Amino acid sequence: MATASAPGKIILFGEHAVVYGRPALAAPVTQVQATATVGADARGGVWVKAPDVGLSAPLADLAPDQPLAAVIRSVFSALGVSRPPDCTVHVRSTIPVASGLGSGAAVSVAVIRALSAFLGQPLTDEQVNALAFEAEKLHHGTPSGIDNTVITYGQAVYFVRGQPIERLKVGMPFTLVIGDTGVAAPTKESVADVRRLWEADPQRWERVFDQIGEIVRAARSALERGDWRLLGALMDDNHTLLQELTVSSAELDRLVDAARGSGALGAKMSGGGRGGNMVALVEPQNAGAVAAALQSAGARQTIITTLS
Ligand code: MEV
Repeated sequence: MATASAPGKIILFGEHAVVYGRPALAAPVTQVQATATVGADARGGVWVKAPDVGLSAPLADLAPDQPLAAVIRSVFSALGVSRPPDCTVHVRSTIPVASGLGSGAAVSVAVIRALSAFLGQPLTDEQVNALAFEAEKLHHGTPSGIDNTVITYGQAVYFVRGQPIERLKVGMPFTLVIGDTGVAAPTKESVADVRRLWEADPQRWERVFDQIGEIVRAARSALERGDWRLLGALMDDNHTLLQELTVSSAELDRLVDAARGSGALGAKMSGGGRGGNMVALVEPQNAGAVAAALQSAGARQTIITTLS
């Protein structure tokens, strides 16, 4: 039997613009996890079980574009396994689906690691990341690769599509409060909507992406210096540009306002948007009050996390 877990992730700055070549900052969120366990199964064939999404079926019955089936087949193919051993791939996850916390990428990474270990050929991080990126294309359409990268390596990153990963240096630990609107919103749809906007008026949206790129660069240096006030203000600015990109929502805006109103240094939506999660930068002693304000404003769940 082999088991592997992978964390969720939060985009700190730069979502959507990162699909268009601008940088973004993201960090793992270890309070939520996807876990895959692969064990021998006497029933014959490969079985796939993901009770959180009501899935229990033989792999052979799952369509080629079913994301979990595609990941499993991609591992067999990468390892040259033409006759897989009888086994069950069992997936559990505490990461809410379609919430901007990287549940699809985390499930992929956990499955790739557990299955390759079960087959006696554990893959390197680089190979895991490459296979998870292929799976992301089924979830996202045109992913930048940031989700699978931050989740595979389990560390905060400064990410530019197609470039070597740069680990994010953090001058002083900082505390975030993450709030879930409870509204499931597939990233694929918001990414496709931004694509339509961009196709209709590339000049306008390239300017917005440039502005987001500047914010990300400034945020990186503020993080390195530990300048939390500036970082908070940059979060607010990034949120305004995401609103302009039409990827925020009334629920996200309400939580962002609640965080700011209860003393957060700054707040923004995070990930694909339209629903899912937002993130606020807080002083550590204020984290509980901001989480309580988010819950009063309708947050389904809150997570307090510290990055160092
Ligand atoms: C999703 O977590 C982040 C997006 O920028 C999409 C991507 O980068 O693939 C919205």
